[in-house]
Amino acid sequence: MKGIILAGGQGSRLYPVTISVTKQLLPVYDKPMIYYPLCTLMEANIRNILCISTQKELPNFKKLLGDGKQWGIEISFAIQNKPKGIAESFIIGSNFINNENVALILGDNIFYGIDFEEYLSLDDKRFNGAQIFVYKVPDPQRYGVVEIKDEKVISIEEKPINPKSNFVATGLYFYENSVKEIAKTIKPSNRNEIEITDINKHYLNQNNLKAKILKQGTVWLDAGTSTSLYKLHIMFKQFKKDKAFK
Ligand code: G1P
Repeated sequence: MKGIILAGGQGSRLYPVTISVTKQLLPVYDKPMIYYPLCTLMEANIRNILCISTQKELPNFKKLLGDGKQWGIEISFAIQNKPKGIAESFIIGSNFINNENVALILGDNIFYGIDFEEYLSLDDKRFNGAQIFVYKVPDPQRYGVVEIKDEKVISIEEKPINPKSNFVATGLYFYENSVKEIAKTIKPSNRNEIEITDINKHYLNQNNLKAKILKQGTVWLDAGTSTSLYKLHIMFKQFKKDKAFK
């Protein structure tokens, strides 16, 4: 399975910090933010990773990550010039994905949990359809809301005014190779983006959208606001402190 990190967006919720500094390069406690989604892909046993960002920001990511050899992985880079949506990643990364399955993670999504690695493991050869990871939040209307019954996905809606549940899709997705072709058929939404939720709806209609609920004790945050960034700093500081006593 190949992996894509999408590190685009304007980071407008963090202005003025992100006027001159890219959001995904900001520190989360002692590491640049993008290290966390990169580690998540590595925990899923993915070794070949494409980092997508804007033309302006890409040199900074190249400078930080290099070609990945220092971590025993391969990193390459591609440009998304306009914020045309998360699902455009599969069009931009089409040659990179080639004939493999692909995992996508958003550059500001941070997962942390004991045994998270085991939880991510999958059989790449037998993988089919799509797999999303869901998390219970108090403010679901900000996200892709997932309605689940008896472990099955019933519906998925992007930022609904009246959410049908408190479970939301996190920014980590696994797809079979067909996602490359499906992405090309998705029409832009009202906000003029190719929505990842529309890709997931496609697999749902084919009865092939699986959802894994993040287990208790796992933390997920999108580090797009100063409050979530602050929470993450405190959490990782505490984690380091606990580790020092082991
Ligand atoms: C995006 C997706 C949304 C998902 C969220 C996770 O939201 O569209 O479905 O729940 O990422 O971070 P956006 O970053 O576009 O607000």
